[in-house]
Amino acid sequence: MKKLVVYYSFEGNTKLLSQTIAQNLDAEILELKIKNEVKRKGFMKYLWGGKSVFMKDKPELEPIAINIDEYDVLIIGTPVWAGTFAPGLRTFFDKYNIQNKNIFLFCTHEGGQGKTLENMKSKLDMNNIVDCKDFVNVSKNIELSKNIAKKWVKETISEFNINK
Ligand SMILES: Cc1cc2nc3c(=O)[nH]c(=O)nc-3n(C[C@H](O)[C@H](O)[C@H](O)COP(=O)(O)O)c2cc1C
Repeated sequence: MKKLVVYYSFEGNTKLLSQTIAQNLDAEILELKIKNEVKRKGFMKYLWGGKSVFMKDKPELEPIAINIDEYDVLIIGTPVWAGTFAPGLRTFFDKYNIQNKNIFLFCTHEGGQGKTLENMKSKLDMNNIVDCKDFVNVSKNIELSKNIAKKWVKETISEFNINK
């Protein structure tokens, strides 16, 4: 089964775990990059990000060279923004009408994951959502988070592949 890890990351936490998952699963990886994204900091970051979520923005993505149709299993990761998935994922879900895939979802957050995973699930309702996972305070617990991700790959994602 062909596997692809798809993720957006603003500050690196989701990226780190996406890379860990892809390496341990022997999957390909696709970073969703926002065209001309400005790396805002501090209060402005939350103001801008929160507004973008509230407005249901669909920021333009940099071109994607990968053909999503070729993959049977997608592992999709996002940071939590204002209790839901980041706006770049909204663009991705709307642009690629993803159907009939086996999907694993994960998010990274700082203690308030809100409805992130439920909201992603409802955007992907034509698929088989196999499992979901959230990771809390990744940047404060890097090794622990990587180990949890590795365990998830070994005990859940790889097992699913073998059993198919
Ligand atoms: C705009 C914005 C909104 C956020 N909203 C939340 C939130 O609602 N709940 C939470 O626990 N963390 C929130 N965070 C923290 C991030 O989810 C967390 O640091 C995440 O791991 C960042 O992932 P990244 O490094 O891949 O961008 C927010 C961060 C940003 C930038």
